Amino acid sequence: MRGSRSASPGRTTQRRYRATLDGVHTTAAPGRPTGRTEHPQRTRRPGRGRARKVLLLLHLVFAGAWLGMHVVLGVLVCTLFVSDDPRVISVSYRALVLFAIWPLLSVALLCLLSGLALGMVTKYGVLRYRWVVVKLALNVVLAVLIAFALPGGLEAAALAGQRIAEGAAVGDPPLDLLFPPIVSTAALLAAFVLSVFKPWGRSR
Ligand code: HEM
Repeated sequence: MRGSRSASPGRTTQRRYRATLDGVHTTAAPGRPTGRTEHPQRTRRPGRGRARKVLLLLHLVFAGAWLGMHVVLGVLVCTLFVSDDPRVISVSYRALVLFAIWPLLSVALLCLLSGLALGMVTKYGVLRYRWVVVKLALNVVLAVLIAFALPGGLEAAALAGQRIAEGAAVGDPPLDLLFPPIVSTAALLAAFVLSVFKPWGRSR
């Protein structure tokens, strides 16, 4: 009898501890021990507290800034297609070049780093949930595109802006300038949707 009494609370504590690591709230049955006293530091839910809030705030700021920059990029590219004024077109070309590489790449990397840190301090992990894995892939692909695919198109844009400022005729803007604002904005919006709805459950 003594053996069976001592085994049961141990199993209960183990179950609670495992459930707590999974982020599941547990409540003790009325009149039963809570199990909290044995491992108070383990039963605290990971990811709770000020560090998580600060990281989440930073992550939201970087993600929001990144989306905002793509909206501005879209406005500048659209201006190239709809404006008849050579001065406006020249300024739009040069403004594109001004902020499209380093500021854009910086927020993409900061969003990635803050996202990775958030994954590490919350129950979501970095590879544990499918919605986080997909966001990680989107973030990495977009950062690689900004670093390696965007600069070529923007050099041509800078040159076109310079020539128009010097009095050259305004030609048709290259269609591939439409690609970054459309594709990246759509991918970022998808990442926002995934972040809020957190679909598809665990990946492992
Ligand atoms: C692709 C760009 C990204 C965008 C636009 C984005 C956006 C967001 C947003 C809006 C939230 C807040 C959701 C909420 O509180 O309901 C969030 C949370 C989160 N993000 Fe991202 N994110 C991105 C990239 C990443 C990456 C690369 C990771 C990790 C590898 C990541 C991991 C997380 C985690 C774990 C949370 C949940 C934090 C919590 O609720 O405690 N994110 N993200």
